Amino acid sequence: MYECYLLGYWCRTLNKLKISGLKSTEVKSHKRYIDGKCDYWRKQGVRTASVSLWTRLTKQWFDWERDLYVRNGFGVYELGKPVLYLSDPELIREVLVKDFHIFTNRRKFITDDPMINKMVFSARDSEWKRLRTVMSPTFTTGKLKRMTPLILECVDTMNDNIDKIIAKNDGQLSAPVDMKRITGAYGMEVVIQVAFGRKVSALVDPNNPIIENALTQFFHKFTLNLIDERKRGLETESSVKRVDFLQLMLDSMRDNNDEAIDGSDEYTDSLTNDELIAQCVLFLVAGYETSATTLSMCLYTIAKHPEVQQKLYEEINKFHEHQKSNADPYEAFHALKYMDAVIDETLRLFPAAIFIERVPTEDYELTGTGITIKKDHVVHIPAYAIHRDPEYFADPEVFRPERFLPENIAHNPYTYLPFGAGPRNCLGMRLAQLEIKLALVNLVQRYKPLELGVAGGLIIPKSVDLRISGR
Ligand code: HEM
Repeated sequence: MYECYLLGYWCRTLNKLKISGLKSTEVKSHKRYIDGKCDYWRKQGVRTASVSLWTRLTKQWFDWERDLYVRNGFGVYELGKPVLYLSDPELIREVLVKDFHIFTNRRKFITDDPMINKMVFSARDSEWKRLRTVMSPTFTTGKLKRMTPLILECVDTMNDNIDKIIAKNDGQLSAPVDMKRITGAYGMEVVIQVAFGRKVSALVDPNNPIIENALTQFFHKFTLNLIDERKRGLETESSVKRVDFLQLMLDSMRDNNDEAIDGSDEYTDSLTNDELIAQCVLFLVAGYETSATTLSMCLYTIAKHPEVQQKLYEEINKFHEHQKSNADPYEAFHALKYMDAVIDETLRLFPAAIFIERVPTEDYELTGTGITIKKDHVVHIPAYAIHRDPEYFADPEVFRPERFLPENIAHNPYTYLPFGAGPRNCLGMRLAQLEIKLALVNLVQRYKPLELGVAGGLIIPKSVDLRISGR
């Protein structure tokens, strides 16, 4: 998602220049920007900050955004267009929840790709509402419970991959292993399993056509065939009722169309095939990198904090006792509160998406501030910087999972936004949490304390090098 945002930013910029050409008003406002004459915020009494193109190109996004951060918000100009940075939790709630009907959309994604325009992430207004309504029932507790065995199969494949590495070292502590590659393969397998009910072994078979062609015509055709087979009940691979995303959306569309003419099982107008395919591609894009990065950052943080790793190991051992008397593995995993706290604290320090954005559909005055946000101007919520504000989290740079134990939680919910908030928050949040938790339980239980290797990373680490051996 972080990459998407970045790419989105530069694509938007390039598209503006290349595809549509700069309109004369944009040229004027860009010139004013260069001349330092933008006065929209000054006139409203809002502090302004600026970030040069050079800084944007040479510094990490989360670094310069944090340098810019001022608690009560400020204005910046992007190519002359005012953008309001917001970090007050009450005002964030106002935008994300209270007046969501005005702040329904993210900024416009200018693209020639019709597939991207159909994705729930970029869809707007009533189109977004329609897509989200069909997709929302996909991740209810009941559905997640049914997905758990599918995800556990991917955990088994991950174990096989790690065991092979350990076997090469005769059971000794391995040389540094890039865990990002391992968690990346796991993330890809989960998302393909969950989206289509298809097994791939991403690490063993990186040339698998589903992985190689995720964004091409092949993928479009592949999904279309699958939809067609399922609608006609032709898919024979499994006689068990499927619980993958594609099937759940087909079911949800059918349920929404109970009144289908002549009582047949026809799927009518909820989602077109193209819309359905677009959501499947979005799942791969939105679900793979974010979860894999978060899982590898969890491994990184527990490798840096062996005492946390030990506590996790003890909690998991107790959990296995408990699990013996609990027939439902999903419920049993639910009991691992320290594990949840470790994941939450990792997401505080390293949120995969470093900011959230909304635009209003009409001019809007923020309560009690006298600040007007004009229609289509961007409100930018710098989640990464807010997560590290000492006013909201004591000793913000310190990794301290205990702050997320249920009895200790003291922060305002709008100062902790790894999955966004409100009706347009992350649709896959519960799936991501489950997928990360199942993998971590397994890794901590099976392998001896993970040790930090020579290199570590941030946010989208190129690699997370850890040394590993069997327990
Ligand atoms: C640790 C993993 C993940 C993180 C940190 C994450 C984070 C986010 C964030 C910050 C947003 C924007 C929320 C907002 O604007 O308020 C978002 C949106 C979204 N995410 Fe995730 N995400 C993760 C995993 C997933 C997964 C696994 C899926 C699906 C398989 C997914 C699907 C989506 C979708 C569809 C949206 C757009 C929702 C909409 O516009 O209605 N995400 N995610």
